[in-house]
Amino acid sequence: MKIIFASVLFFATVMCVKAQHTDLIANSEGRKTVSLDGQWQTIVDPYETGYYDYRYQPSANGYFKDTKPKSKSDLIEYDFDTSETLAVPGDWNTQKERLLLYEGTIWYKKAFDHQKKPNTRIFVYFGAASYLSDVYLNGQKLGRHEGGFTPFNFEITNLVRDKGNSLIVKVDNKRRRDAVPTLNTDWWNYGGLTREVKLIEVPDTFVQDYFIQLQKGSQNRIGGWVRLNGGKLNQKITVRIPEARISQTFTADVKGYAEINLNADLTLWSPNNPKLYDVKVEAETDQVQDQIGFRSIEVKGSEILLNGKPIFLRGVSIHEEAPFRGGRAHSKEDAGTLLNWAKELGCNFVRLAHYPHNETMIREADRMGIMVWSEIPVYWTILWENPATFENAQAQLSEMIARDKNRAAIIIWSVANETPLGDTRLTFLKKLIERARSLDSTRLISAALERHYLDDKKTQMIDDPLGEYLDVLGCNEYVGWYDGLPEKIDTLDWKTKYQKPLIMSEFGADALYGKHGDALTRWSEEYQEDLYRRTVKMLKKISFLRGTSPWILMDFRSPRRPLPGIQDFRNRKGLISDRGEKKKAFYVMQEYYRELGAPLQK
Ligand code: GCU
Repeated sequence: MKIIFASVLFFATVMCVKAQHTDLIANSEGRKTVSLDGQWQTIVDPYETGYYDYRYQPSANGYFKDTKPKSKSDLIEYDFDTSETLAVPGDWNTQKERLLLYEGTIWYKKAFDHQKKPNTRIFVYFGAASYLSDVYLNGQKLGRHEGGFTPFNFEITNLVRDKGNSLIVKVDNKRRRDAVPTLNTDWWNYGGLTREVKLIEVPDTFVQDYFIQLQKGSQNRIGGWVRLNGGKLNQKITVRIPEARISQTFTADVKGYAEINLNADLTLWSPNNPKLYDVKVEAETDQVQDQIGFRSIEVKGSEILLNGKPIFLRGVSIHEEAPFRGGRAHSKEDAGTLLNWAKELGCNFVRLAHYPHNETMIREADRMGIMVWSEIPVYWTILWENPATFENAQAQLSEMIARDKNRAAIIIWSVANETPLGDTRLTFLKKLIERARSLDSTRLISAALERHYLDDKKTQMIDDPLGEYLDVLGCNEYVGWYDGLPEKIDTLDWKTKYQKPLIMSEFGADALYGKHGDALTRWSEEYQEDLYRRTVKMLKKISFLRGTSPWILMDFRSPRRPLPGIQDFRNRKGLISDRGEKKKAFYVMQEYYRELGAPLQK
């Protein structure tokens, strides 16, 4: 009887808590924060013993209670404080050999003190946690977040103590058929608190969020909004851009919302001049500062226009893996290494696949003048009919846009990769596109589409119905690797039914660095080099091609690639090995980008 009552009570609290994770606080970098990064106590819990009782019912006395024995006779079968630790930020898979393939639950605990100041509110902010997180403070459930690649925060103002706080997170990276991504991906299912965790301290009424960018199609009109959160909402809000001698005041409405509209004479952000402005948003009770670039991005027929001028996106695809050490990338150094390699290749653009990468990477691209394609992990065949799967995908899309909407570097939001034709798929993705456009009308929408051969067996046709709803067509092709041998590329022709620009969002071949042979020897650098040579020739013939992002900058871990001595659980399509060694194909692509105007890198 007691157990049933406990679980009913538990469910009652969970139901109401579920909706509690607050809207994302914009620009967590520009706030007063306390980092909780470092070593966290952890409990590896494959059977979720810390969450369910022996009847597999959620337990009211789970590990989130962080209970200590009060007497020598007390029976407590876990103890965070004598358990092993894991570093945060960081995936667990590359921190301990035995966790490399671990998929399940690990509990994380961080103890901290925090002297709350009067008239302030406290939030706990997670850069990302892979994949499903249940968060507790001092035994109280704060809420749950699903999705391994987007940030979330919870308010803890009324729960935080001056001393001895116990922040506990149950992180579960088990793959599920109804999840996003679903069961099979060609990347490693890294688990853990993979990005920073911090406390954010703000005034009672604070600047919760803002969107400050050039209006669609304009190069001198800034449009957007500011939203306050708190008790005193209809405040005066001033937007200042000192360097552009802009200081304009707006009045927030009773909901704390203020529309922003102002003329601006700005130096526009571009790869050659990635100009960022100090922008201050000052309300009566709070102010936040950010570095924002202003540029316009549009399409006209099959042209992509940056600041009104046609541009070719010289890109490369990148997974969020750290060079050399492996595992999830998260640091400035990781971002710098990857983006400098892309620059060395001659890139002005990167496709960050297949999920939103960390904010450090995006801000580094902003600073370095590298345009970005950002994507949500609607990858291969997810459960299109399942409403919860849609809600999940839409939440990840909204969080991706919420975090990065003020970053000039991001020019494209992508809603899907290699998803199969079908009505439910089309309906699902059309709704996502509508959502993206409602949240941000200033950027382009794309997806990696399906294509097929015409009867002549040498013309690839892009007429995927999804193309109708996109601004830019994306297409992945592996002719010469999964489809025939490289000679097949020589006679390949491309067509589309759409008057839209195409980005060849993937192409390439696996090669093990240092393995040599003739051009028909699979896995050799020569095979990859030859395939790239032929592909570049083919790309030059495509009249509506306006960008390329070959697959991929660096070899990366994948559970789908077991070939001993060659792959060893790595996808070897990198132009660079995971130890930073450049393969022959790297120079073929570099030469092509030089022909397209890439500046010589010092
Ligand atoms: C696919 C997919 C990638 C994958 C690549 C490959 O197109 O989008 O995630 O890694 O092909 O097979 O190497």
